[in-house]
Amino acid sequence: MLGRLNHVALAVPDLGAATAAYRDVLGARVTAPQALPEHGVTVVFVDVGNTKIELLEPLGEGSPIAAFLEKNPSGGMHHVCYEVDDILAARDHLTACGARILGDGNPKTGAHGKPVLFLHPKDFFGTLVELEQA
Ligand code: CO
Repeated sequence: MLGRLNHVALAVPDLGAATAAYRDVLGARVTAPQALPEHGVTVVFVDVGNTKIELLEPLGEGSPIAAFLEKNPSGGMHHVCYEVDDILAARDHLTACGARILGDGNPKTGAHGKPVLFLHPKDFFGTLVELEQA
């Protein structure tokens, strides 16, 4: 079921500063910031060749990233995203195995315009897992 690592997401308190550090200090290619109000985040993707790093900054009230940054003020790893061929089949398989899907259990549209789901971190050893239909 599990495919490639699509990205690793890092929550950051200052997206402009983080983007500049990746672009100017680390010499990476970065995208323009993209606001995703449905997810409560603004994202920048860093292309590192074999995968991407997703820099996340809170957007709007009740952003899931805001709570994370309260606990980790300087930022930190927020989630990993794996690709799947069929997100509904993956969801049904995971649910049958007892894993919990966050939210209402239905895919949302992610930063790449593709359906995504998040899995409860307590079911995957403390790491928030995103699945994206490739
Ligand atoms: Co993500």
